[in-house]
Amino acid sequence: MPEANSPKSPPDVVDLLYRDHERITLHLIETLPEGEPQSDLERVAMESELLERLHNLKDELEAHLYIEEHVVYPFCSKFDSFRTLITRCHEEHRTARAGLMDALQPGMPDDRIRKMLQSLRADLEKHFKFEESELFSLIRKQIPRSEREELGKQLEITRLEWRRVLKKAG
Ligand SMILES: [Fe+2]
Ligand SMILES: [Fe+2]
Repeated sequence: MPEANSPKSPPDVVDLLYRDHERITLHLIETLPEGEPQSDLERVAMESELLERLHNLKDELEAHLYIEEHVVYPFCSKFDSFRTLITRCHEEHRTARAGLMDALQPGMPDDRIRKMLQSLRADLEKHFKFEESELFSLIRKQIPRSEREELGKQLEITRLEWRRVLKKAG
């Protein structure tokens, strides 16, 4: 759970990561709503929104994976106690990226996209749960608040850089 924070203190990296997980989970729910469409109109609306939502999910998820890999994991890897956790996190990121790329293949029928998204959602839920219960709690235990806040700043700077690179590429 995110920790209570005074409004003036800079963001703790762990709180920012929790917020990212919540945002990505919401994107997943939006992209893959539960249940079947109740009418043809609803079905057409769902299909036409699927690709747009999938691309929003992609942007949000890729930014999150990138900042963890470029800010959080390298910092944590300096400590022996984190190494096994970080190795597993990198493996799970590879699986998530592969799942995302599968779903984004051009010409993929919607029902296949949905199946791939279900599998991506299951993988991500497992990954987020692992990070929150193991990695984030270890960060809070071992890294002082001032350093977590410094990491939080770096995380936001790196996220902006990532968005700039994306804009240039797009
Ligand atoms: Fe991660
Ligand atoms: Fe994460």
